[in-house]
Amino acid sequence: MIPPPQHQQDLLTFLRKASVSTDASYRAGVLQCAEWVRGRLQTAGLQAELHSTPGYPVVLGRSRHRPGLRTVLIYGHYDVQPVDPLNLWKHPPFEPWIENGIVTARGASDNKGQILAHILGVEDQLAHNDLPVNVIFLIEGEEEIGSPNLFAFLEQHKAELGCDVIVISDTTMTARRTGTLTYGLRGLVPLELSVTGPARDLHSGVFGGAVVNPVTVLAGLVHALHFRDGAVAIPEFYSSVQSLKKWEREEWSKSPLTDARLLEITGAPRLGGEAGFSALERMWARPTAEVNGLYGGYQGEGTKTVLPREAHAKLTFRLVPDQDPEVILDLAEAYFKSLAPPTVRITTRRGHGGRPYLTDPHSGFGLAAQKALMTTFGGPPALIREGGSIPIVEAFKRVLGVDTLLLGLALPDCNAHSPNETFPLENLAFGLELNKALLAEIAMVPQAGIGA
Ligand code: BES
Ligand code: MN
Repeated sequence: MIPPPQHQQDLLTFLRKASVSTDASYRAGVLQCAEWVRGRLQTAGLQAELHSTPGYPVVLGRSRHRPGLRTVLIYGHYDVQPVDPLNLWKHPPFEPWIENGIVTARGASDNKGQILAHILGVEDQLAHNDLPVNVIFLIEGEEEIGSPNLFAFLEQHKAELGCDVIVISDTTMTARRTGTLTYGLRGLVPLELSVTGPARDLHSGVFGGAVVNPVTVLAGLVHALHFRDGAVAIPEFYSSVQSLKKWEREEWSKSPLTDARLLEITGAPRLGGEAGFSALERMWARPTAEVNGLYGGYQGEGTKTVLPREAHAKLTFRLVPDQDPEVILDLAEAYFKSLAPPTVRITTRRGHGGRPYLTDPHSGFGLAAQKALMTTFGGPPALIREGGSIPIVEAFKRVLGVDTLLLGLALPDCNAHSPNETFPLENLAFGLELNKALLAEIAMVPQAGIGA
């Protein structure tokens, strides 16, 4: 399965846009990327426009509305993660490079290759006059920073975004050529924790011993996040966590993502985490407290005898049903404040995230997705939850009242968010076929009230 040269060219052009949303120095690249996506939707035969937001624009595309057909909203994101550490890339991250049928570049899987497969599928159906549903594309530029403006956008444009079901390819397959339906995502909520002490950096020889070091205090707070058995130590952290269903444990125990495979993919010397759960259960159905960054003091070459005035940790919590982001932040802040000594000051800053999402893979639309995966990959699909987050998915349910089908095309070893991110070209071709089959299956799901 090799995509035709024109589709490969589209992917390369898309990947050359440096659309890092978190870093303001990439602003021009992000905006160019939005415009390219708009143009590409138009070329595919859709009516497409950019909608400005206080941040980066949302790209909307629609097929000509035909009454009586189901409407499918396809969501994706054109922004990408930062590229650092840059020195670990084999080639520059925005100069995509193809070798052995695999393209390497920042955003290759997350989410450019995956959303392009949707666009190409719809383009193909439009060209053959057999698009079986109405389609709305909603492609945003702020997913990787927690979609700070999309929630308001969704509320404002609720009426125009009305649809029967949402479809997203921004998740993973458990292995190559293994169709996968993801029916749950963890939520996410960020918290920056800062410890400050003296008014300025001090000579550590002159004042060390009399003034407490903020880096030391911060290290202690970070250490206190977990018990020795790997469980999160914040009081009440687990109080609203739903337990896994028996069928889920059974289904997941057959996954090709064994502990050995996870070791191979991650390169970690051993797996770890909360005692009493399998690795997949810990990744997909248990909450975590993660340190994404920790800094303070001198980072340069050699020694500098300084007693730093401040130290910072960037934390994120991954949440599962029915944990509430605000409640978790309240608990975490109260915990840190209870532990901090009076010799320093503690401040926190809350970030944007999203709630966890869980749906039924055996619903009418879920079964339609399973059939499309079966047709495309020639075997029964894996039914999984995943540990990653797509913040807007839970809001699609809350605001629009519709479920989301997550049919990812990324592979577990695609290096998303890491150096040398990859996407297999065959998945662009499989994705095109999958998305055509999916829209055809969705069109055949009986409408509520008629039959069924
Ligand atoms: N595509 C990912 C989410 C994902 C990855 C879901 C793998 C399931 C499996 C998405 O682009 C992403 O990285 N989301 C961020 C969200 C955050 C920055 C608010 C995440 O999960 O860290
Ligand atoms: Mn991502």
